[in-house]
Amino acid sequence: MIKDSPKTAKVYDRFMTFFDSLFIRRWRNLLWQKVEGTKILEAGGGTGLNIAHYKPGHTVTFVDKNAHFLYIARKRAQKKGIKVHFYCGDVGHICVKKGFYDSAVSTFLFCSVKDPLAVLKELYRVLRKDGYLVLLEQIPSASFIGSFMNFLARPFYALFGARLAPDLKQKAKDAGFSEIFVYPVFLDTVSIIKARK
Ligand SMILES: C[S@@+](CC[C@H](N)C(=O)[O-])C[C@H]1O[C@@H](n2cnc3c(N)ncnc32)[C@H](O)[C@@H]1O
Repeated sequence: MIKDSPKTAKVYDRFMTFFDSLFIRRWRNLLWQKVEGTKILEAGGGTGLNIAHYKPGHTVTFVDKNAHFLYIARKRAQKKGIKVHFYCGDVGHICVKKGFYDSAVSTFLFCSVKDPLAVLKELYRVLRKDGYLVLLEQIPSASFIGSFMNFLARPFYALFGARLAPDLKQKAKDAGFSEIFVYPVFLDTVSIIKARK
């Protein structure tokens, strides 16, 4: 579980901004090309590194349970002049009627979620019929080199109390999603998962 403190938020944001400038930004860009519709939920948006990728016409609700992360995200949106609806809360219980969003998006959320299936079920609930779930996650790898890369990422996960996301494809299926596609973006360890309600 990621600590909710100003220091952790600052350190996390510095780390992620650095890795974003190296390669993660490209992966985020690929993810946002797959996002459909205009009513978007960003689940576990952290310090707001996806905000730069929102498209004109998107109305985004940004949910994160970590108030200090949310504070940095809000400042980032203000700086860029992008209007975002920020909400500090649990993505396992989103205060919105069912079928509200066109797409539910998350990046590196499930490495720090306690009950991934419960969250996927909640994202399913808030999506409209034929709405899309679009995730970017680092996942367990079947290859030697992929497993080695995951091994190298361990200290980063340990620093923030996170772990590799479990079998998200199967869990998305269990939550009710169909047409589940996995697009590897780096070896088979970092992938975009897109699924339809
Ligand atoms: C590894 S960070 C990823 C942040 C951001 N999406 C990014 O790409 O940089 C995971 C985020 O998910 C949030 N989170 C984890 N579980 C959550 C939950 N149940 N409800 C809301 N936010 C959650 C954490 O507070 C954290 O900001």
